[in-house]
Amino acid sequence: MADIRFDGKVAIVTGAGGGLGRQHALELARRGAKVVINDLGGSMDGSGGSSAAAEAVVAEIKAFGGEAIANGSSVTDDAGVANMVQQAMDAWGRIDILVANAGILRDKTFSKMEMADFEAVMNVHVMGSVKPAKAVWEIMKAQNYGRIVVTTSSTGLYGNFGQSNYGAAKLALIGFMNTLKLEGQKNNIHVNAISPVAATRMTENLMPAEVLAKLKPEYVTPAVVYLVSEEAPTGVVMTAGAGAFAQARIYETEGVYLGEGGLSVEEVRDNFARITDPTGQQAYVNGGEQSGKFFRKMQGG
Ligand code: NAI
Repeated sequence: MADIRFDGKVAIVTGAGGGLGRQHALELARRGAKVVINDLGGSMDGSGGSSAAAEAVVAEIKAFGGEAIANGSSVTDDAGVANMVQQAMDAWGRIDILVANAGILRDKTFSKMEMADFEAVMNVHVMGSVKPAKAVWEIMKAQNYGRIVVTTSSTGLYGNFGQSNYGAAKLALIGFMNTLKLEGQKNNIHVNAISPVAATRMTENLMPAEVLAKLKPEYVTPAVVYLVSEEAPTGVVMTAGAGAFAQARIYETEGVYLGEGGLSVEEVRDNFARITDPTGQQAYVNGGEQSGKFFRKMQGG
């Protein structure tokens, strides 16, 4: 099969001044995309900022003959996001791809967590993905083409001690994707999620050096680039790290119909093993499919 190329395509990668975002942007540019390199250039907890990080990646892309422009806005800032999108439209007249990658961490156990730290993390990950997506959505609809990848995490999918804020934010993005994938379908807008594991400044204190050495951010990038290609599926959560790739899905058990009359708490307790029995479990493509199961079971199906 032919190589995957992005000639004539325009991409915005948020948080692309370092870590994973930088690798995603470099690979898109190597494959012909024109790329807006967004990065606030702040510290890992989201404080401070300068456009130097974004400009350095633009220089790298230009050095190999690619096309890129820098944007130093915060993804949570309405005017900054509008400006980022305008920059892309002014320079190249279209936006085909959004990789919503920017993120911060403020880890603490829930006991010790200040609400300000919870809100800051929710804001950067959730609204910092929603606002850029909203700003490109009508453009993608008008083009009848768009590819969006949001960045989730194993913490959102499965949990991690000390990351209640981050986990809540990261799974919110899957909920966001699940509806955008439906609303985007008729305009050929595909929306997917990446759940990466990589050695970046976010993880450098969490794992030993020899493990980190095997977790290069560029090992995640092929998944992201595939998920924003013309051939991309939609509604897929791909997990990637160390050169391994998999799909994460939410499954629901077949469950049990207990009837309408005389239902009780005890009946739920007594049937808990059947309710949670994984035999025949299924992944649904929309909420209606799931509710449909209840009606089927009610009718004895
Ligand atoms: P990183 O800290 O190297 O990169 C994040 C980038 O986002 C930084 O360059 C930062 O300046 C930028 N950024 C932060 N807030 C911003 C804002 N408001 N506006 C614009 N840019 C902003 O970390 P890494 O690891 O590359 O993270 C990238 C994404 O991958 C994040 O969403 C992170 O949560 C996610 N992730 C990373 C994992 C890993 O193992 N490294 C695991 C799971 C998810």
